Amino acid sequence: MAVSSQVDFLVIGAGVAGLRAAVELARHGEVLVVTKESVAESNTHYAQGGIAVAMEGDADVALHLDDTVNAGDGLVYRPAAQALVAEGPVRVAELIEWGAAFDSEAGELLRTREGAHSLPRILHANGDATGAEISRSLAAFARVHKRIRFAEWTTVTGLVVADGRVIAADLLNCERRPQRVLERVSARAVLVAAGGAGQVYSDTTNPAVATGDGIALAAEAGAQLADMEFYQFHPTALSLPGAPRFLLSEALRGEGAILRNDRGERFMERYHPLLELAPRDVVARAITREGMGAAPGEVRVVHLDMRDVQGIDLRHRFPGISALLAKYGLDLGRDLIPVRPAAHYLMGGIRTDLFGRATLPGLYAAGEAACTGVHGANRLASNSLLEGLVFGARAAQSMLDDCLPQGRDAEVSLTPPAPLTAAEQARLEEIITSLQAAMWAYAGLLREESTLRLGLAAQKACAEALVELAGQFGEGKGSRRLAEAQAMSRVAHAILASALARTESRGAHFRNDFPRRDDANFLKHSIFQSTSSADREEPVAFEAW
Ligand code: SIN
Repeated sequence: MAVSSQVDFLVIGAGVAGLRAAVELARHGEVLVVTKESVAESNTHYAQGGIAVAMEGDADVALHLDDTVNAGDGLVYRPAAQALVAEGPVRVAELIEWGAAFDSEAGELLRTREGAHSLPRILHANGDATGAEISRSLAAFARVHKRIRFAEWTTVTGLVVADGRVIAADLLNCERRPQRVLERVSARAVLVAAGGAGQVYSDTTNPAVATGDGIALAAEAGAQLADMEFYQFHPTALSLPGAPRFLLSEALRGEGAILRNDRGERFMERYHPLLELAPRDVVARAITREGMGAAPGEVRVVHLDMRDVQGIDLRHRFPGISALLAKYGLDLGRDLIPVRPAAHYLMGGIRTDLFGRATLPGLYAAGEAACTGVHGANRLASNSLLEGLVFGARAAQSMLDDCLPQGRDAEVSLTPPAPLTAAEQARLEEIITSLQAAMWAYAGLLREESTLRLGLAAQKACAEALVELAGQFGEGKGSRRLAEAQAMSRVAHAILASALARTESRGAHFRNDFPRRDDANFLKHSIFQSTSSADREEPVAFEAW
């Protein structure tokens, strides 16, 4: 079945950025928030450590700015960071007013410290469930707005562009409904806030929904992406055979955890004066190096050690982490916890200005899907939830300023795609797994030209296999999983091409063949534009901003 409808504002994604924007937009019109699963299932929901915010006045804000800029290794766009730290306190205060409960003692908000922060400024909720509390409180607040509707279990399969402007999106609902429904929804403005793409890698802290859909949709429609080579690997994910790469929050190190190699040495002494609280990229690479054995492929276990931490009830402070570890017979206060890095956060994304405007009119982006340059080459820990709040609200403001007076009729001659057979679904999973493994092997923490070229070859093979599986346009197959695979393949291509073009090392992007930072040539942001829409051979250019 194919249908069409209109709404004032379409928001793709129900994490912190999408929900914050929806609340703002609903004051001025009808908002439809589309999400692939339930509203509760977003990357935001899984954020543990907290939200960094400087609530003690101008000097505090200035220090937060310095920390953000320093962590970003020369590439932070200062006006974006300035907006983040200066508007952050207002956005957080507003969130508290709307019902978010952060941990406090005797009426005072509790604050912790994480890597590369010069002081404790990170608020947390229910110990290590900060994202879940932010997601819960924002969704509850949004749900009382009669003008916000949610389309859950719905996948966006394409953006519709007419006369150079995004005017609509195609929504496929093929889960939890007896009939497959393809709907074209036109809107006065469209926001992509669909989060990150950790699933591009085999080892990730991100949930299954983080497949880069919004970034791929924007790129396919012709919008520019920026800084796609900068993928942040979280230093400490659980490393146990057969267990998922569960995030072990940086707040553990903030509360005194230290890192030890397989000889029991506190090895961070050899890497950075801030030891375990060095910037995240430094700690992640140090763990990778300490974890490499003498022979290729040999792995040495690195551990997080909290056994000597005094004065904190660890199970109370980290209830979610403690419960997860207990399933594997581990206890923070008693055991060494095996860790390794895993893909965590994409600093790059859809290129936007300071108010979420993408390079394609009618399209806006906020949160992890966007790239304002606020994180530069390496995001400061716990700045991402704040980014979602601040830039979600900013994107909504510009959508209200620039939107069409009313949605345009988008022609509909759509046929819902046919479902995949069981054999096709199995083939699809094989293709996805091979892409994820190739990205981890060839575009992970330590890269070089030869590995990136191997990655590009693997991605090309994956893209071709997906075309074969999907069939020809108009008579093709379609499903959420196929859309996700296509998105992961597109995002992987942008990461690989951008990483190949940046022949230096900076922040989260480390090239074995170019191990030094090269400010003379690369104090610039990479811009990726899909060659099919840009009619040029080389998809990556560099621009200073
Ligand atoms: C963490 O809890 O370590 C994650 C926080 C973040 O990614 O900023």
